[in-house]
Amino acid sequence: MQMLVTGGAGFIGCNFVRHVLAVDEDARVRVFDKLTYAGNLENLADVSDDPRFEFVEGDVCDLDAAHAAMAGIDTVVHMAAESHVDRSIISAEAAVRTNFVGTFTMLEAAREAGVKRFLHMSTDEVYGACLGEPFTENDPLNPRNPYSASKAGADRLAYSYFVTYDLPVVIARAANNYGPYQYPEKLIPFFVYRALNDEHLPVYGDGMQVRDWLQVRDDCRALLLLLEQGVPGEVYNIHGGNERPNLETIRLILDELGKPESLIKHVEDRPGHDVRYSMDAAKIMALGWQPEVSWEQGIRETVRWFAEHREWMERSVARGREYFEQWYAGR
Ligand code: NAD
Ligand code: TYD
Repeated sequence: MQMLVTGGAGFIGCNFVRHVLAVDEDARVRVFDKLTYAGNLENLADVSDDPRFEFVEGDVCDLDAAHAAMAGIDTVVHMAAESHVDRSIISAEAAVRTNFVGTFTMLEAAREAGVKRFLHMSTDEVYGACLGEPFTENDPLNPRNPYSASKAGADRLAYSYFVTYDLPVVIARAANNYGPYQYPEKLIPFFVYRALNDEHLPVYGDGMQVRDWLQVRDDCRALLLLLEQGVPGEVYNIHGGNERPNLETIRLILDELGKPESLIKHVEDRPGHDVRYSMDAAKIMALGWQPEVSWEQGIRETVRWFAEHREWMERSVARGREYFEQWYAGR
């Protein structure tokens, strides 16, 4: 495989690149990434000397750069995105541009290059809040914030390139990932960071919103399987099998760190907060995949990883200082 991974310097991307290089000795991986606040070459330091790895800095919205990055590539894994809901609430512009227009650009470049596989990274958030049975791939999309709406647009645009131009697109809709190198604006690393500094943990609303936690290694195995066995034009849900109310996850973080629950502070809710994400993953499980990491073991291991990488967290938080000050003012 001659693989192009967009967004490969971010959280899931860097874990995926490491996984591919570890399990497939013939793989060649080129990362194409703009290195926004969320992307960081430090995340790829341990593979940077591998002759099978290459890094190209660039913007997925730049068609010329996308064409150039596609040279010699047969497989695209499109992960680059503005990935944080709260940032998209402050301003939707970056999410719309990168997630929707950037996906259009990468699809165009891939079509012209005639790639054999285009794996599009989508999310459970495109279904919107789940109030009943877990969503299957055939359920309608009902995104409710600018991030998830831009991802839903991208998801369907990718599908349209399969139907219209025969581009071999496979779409993965993954649940909330957690694990090493996640940028500390997302719940788990952000709360580890705050708790280690004995700062209060700003829980939105009652904290009973449910997320289905998927350890990033399990996600990476699923994505690689879809590259090999996913049927073009098809969507695959990747769930974690670990639905938990936020407060339960937060209490486990505090327990692992030996910090008191008095750090929990209920604050103003996120507008349009989806109360629950839940997906049925029977379709990918029929290909032989299932999540392997248990919730408690996975969260504890991840909390320890962040606690052992405090300087990485400090540097990451420093890149987003302005955002944290704006969003959490009064929270
Ligand atoms: P992340 O924010 O950690 O990383 C995003 C990466 O994309 C960064 O390296 C950043 O520099 C890069 N990037 C951003 N804008 C770019 C641009 N215009 N051009 C090129 N590169 C750009 O995100 P993540 O959590 O690793 O998510 C990766 C993908 O998976 C995204 O598409 C996201 O929507 C999707 N996803 C994430 C989760 C999750 O829980 N994190 C769940 C389901 C789906
Ligand atoms: P997040 O990690 O932002 O992922 P997503 O919104 O994409 O699911 O948030 C996970 C859950 O944690 C979500 O229900 C919002 C909640 N949350 C808080 O209560 N406080 C916070 O400061 C953050 C970042 C998230």
